Amino acid sequence: MSSFLENSKNSPYDPKSNYKLGLNKKRDQQIWAIAGGKGGVGKSLVTANVSICLALMGYKVSSVDLDLGGANLHTCLGVPIPEKTLSDYLSKKVRNFSDLLNDTPIENLSLISGAQDDLGIANLRHMQKTRLISKLRDIDSDYVLMDLGAGTSFNTLDFFINSDMGILTALPEPTSIENTYRFIKSFYHRKMKMIEDLLDIGPIIDKHLNSKLSYNFSPSELFEKMKEVNPEKAELLQAELNKFSPKLIINQVRTQADIDIGFSMKIICKKYFGIDLDYIGYLEYDSTVWQSVKKRKPLLMEFPNSALVTNFDRIVHKLLKI
Ligand SMILES: Nc1ncnc2c1ncn2[C@@H]1O[C@H](COP(=O)(O)OP(=O)(O)OP(=O)(O)O)[C@@H](O)[C@H]1O
Ligand SMILES: [Mg+2]
Repeated sequence: MSSFLENSKNSPYDPKSNYKLGLNKKRDQQIWAIAGGKGGVGKSLVTANVSICLALMGYKVSSVDLDLGGANLHTCLGVPIPEKTLSDYLSKKVRNFSDLLNDTPIENLSLISGAQDDLGIANLRHMQKTRLISKLRDIDSDYVLMDLGAGTSFNTLDFFINSDMGILTALPEPTSIENTYRFIKSFYHRKMKMIEDLLDIGPIIDKHLNSKLSYNFSPSELFEKMKEVNPEKAELLQAELNKFSPKLIINQVRTQADIDIGFSMKIICKKYFGIDLDYIGYLEYDSTVWQSVKKRKPLLMEFPNSALVTNFDRIVHKLLKI
């Protein structure tokens, strides 16, 4: 089986040479967010290894650990806890954001390490988040990948909403699947709140749907109601929400049935939430993952022939649409 590393040199795709041929101008920077409704579902694994794939392809990449309070992305990238972390920036110990960028053993890949304590950062103020996002947009990288914390905190939802692409990882087990749906629902609630003002639909929601804005309302129910009340606004709302189609990765698959869960989730999301969930691939359960974590080495570099290399290769090509 040919590995991603070989592919990056020999494949007809060879994005590195495409990049050089380049499409000659600097690409627009893209911020990708990696989240999951639950802890331990592979967010850091995905962030680290997708970052490495992109860096090996010749893109300039920054991995950012935004798992505030539980930062460990550095381990997946094979580097010790960097001296300067986001904590230092948020507490104003470090003034210059670019001082947070740490080199990694992988060419083209830098790391901004997350906060090592949760002092004052568990819930960032709106201004802090906006500032942080704008600082991330200023980084001189083709891709900035954000490893987000577990769950549906406002921090996590807001970083996900403000990214150019949101990637969800889930395990093929009921608790993880449920939490993924919960995340999607929370995400749409949050996003709705943000576009309420934009579309001036707040009064309509208050008047006609207040009771629906409980934990249990679904976006598709909302569209239906909105269509009855104000079809024009309903269309605008749908267009606004449709701009964002989250990607899904099923991690730790062992059987075909596990792989198929992604397809079912896609159908369910469309049916119940009215949203397009883009199932971009799966990662096999593989002992090289914990072996590399134990060794504190990046998986793709330590086990270039593992099955996961092929899995990541496929996912990254899908993400890049090449
Ligand atoms: N494909 C896989 N095969 C085998 N083990 C895996 C796989 N993916 C993840 N794991 C195991 O699950 C652990 C958790 O993965 P990871 O740290 O990437 O999850 P996370 O979602 O970032 O967790 P947290 O919410 O704690 O930050 C890994 O240390 C590894 O032991
Ligand atoms: Mg993690």
